[in-house]
Amino acid sequence: MAMAQAHGGLHAFINGGVVVFLLLLALPLQTSYVIGHQSQYSKKLYIVYLGERQHEDADLVTASHHEILTSILGSKDETLKSIVYSYRHGFSGFSARLTQSQAREIAGLPGVLRVAENQIYKTHTTRSWDFLQLGYDNKNGLLTEANSNYGEDIIIGVIDTGITPESASFNDSGYGPPPSRWKGICQVGPSFGANSCNRKIIGARWYADDIDNSTLAPTEILSPRDTDGHGTHTASTAGGNIVHNVSFGGIAAGTARGGAPRARLAIYKACWSEAGCSEARLLKAMDDAVHDGVDVLSLSIGGPIEIQALFTWSPMASRLCMPLGTMDQSLRRWRTHRRGY
Ligand SMILES: *[C@@H]1O[C@H](CO)[C@@H](O)[C@H](O)[C@H]1NC(C)=O
Ligand SMILES: *[C@@H]1O[C@H](CO)[C@@H](O)[C@H](O)[C@H]1NC(C)=O
Ligand SMILES: *[C@@H]1O[C@H](CO)[C@@H](O)[C@H](O)[C@H]1NC(C)=O
Repeated sequence: MAMAQAHGGLHAFINGGVVVFLLLLALPLQTSYVIGHQSQYSKKLYIVYLGERQHEDADLVTASHHEILTSILGSKDETLKSIVYSYRHGFSGFSARLTQSQAREIAGLPGVLRVAENQIYKTHTTRSWDFLQLGYDNKNGLLTEANSNYGEDIIIGVIDTGITPESASFNDSGYGPPPSRWKGICQVGPSFGANSCNRKIIGARWYADDIDNSTLAPTEILSPRDTDGHGTHTASTAGGNIVHNVSFGGIAAGTARGGAPRARLAIYKACWSEAGCSEARLLKAMDDAVHDGVDVLSLSIGGPIEIQALFTWSPMASRLCMPLGTMDQSLRRWRTHRRGY
């Protein structure tokens, strides 16, 4: 196994012939949140983490979340008004709008591992593949070793600001059908039709359930379409095709390509220009990615204050358990690091 590491969170390692790229989500560990000044009745978005799923059936997992909320809020109606996302594939948990005292009550229930206020992160940009010696023309590099074949048929989930599917980086010419294990969807919407997904961009989803419409910039599009540019940049950095003779207005001419240029991409738009990347949305995107059959997640975001790695790399026993294992382990550790309920 070879492993390289860059601050801001880019890790790559080879394991069992599969090349894995994991851009780490950098989250603040040391900032315990301030709850003193909020009114007893004002509601905030909280993330409730319950650890491993207690049911194979995802609907039963969600039903158990509704049950917990109803036991505190008193009615199914209130529960449906309060819950924003139910996390039910990679782990069990939910996000919900709660008062501080309701959050405390839930934290006291058996089986609840952690309750914390939702955090908003920002998109970041990380260093180049050359730092990791992952040059595509490096015949002795990780990419060509171990039959990885430039990431052929690896599915990279990119959690960011969406995608500009027309880019040559995502041309699907020469690609076969998506790997049969793929279970994701192409969520169509404004400026994003069914033909925006192809054999390169094999799936796309978007997340805005916790966003008050008034805080969405007027230029935002409620679909996987990228209006910011960051998501298109990170997706092509992780898995874009090799595109020769490109330049930025004639400057910096050269070849653009991703670290794993033959990989397939699954797009999860959870970040917005002004609304940032909320933890509630990021976790839902990760949860869906686990369901969809993503092999590797790419996140290029960080905390507003203190940046430390929360999602550390973990050796991957099987493709599917990577996001699950990483998230579960990290959240458990996070819990012990933070002074919460
Ligand atoms: C994709 O690439 C192929 C081969 O280079 C080219 O013929 C085709 O026009 C491209 N498709 C798009 C949508 O640009
Ligand atoms: C917010 O936007 C969504 C999606 O367009 C829409 O369904 C909803 O009614 C809007 N809510 C408000 C309060 O405007
Ligand atoms: C790139 O551009 C140069 C100069 O315009 C040209 O000579 C070369 O053939 C081009 N290469 C490719 C792969 O298109």
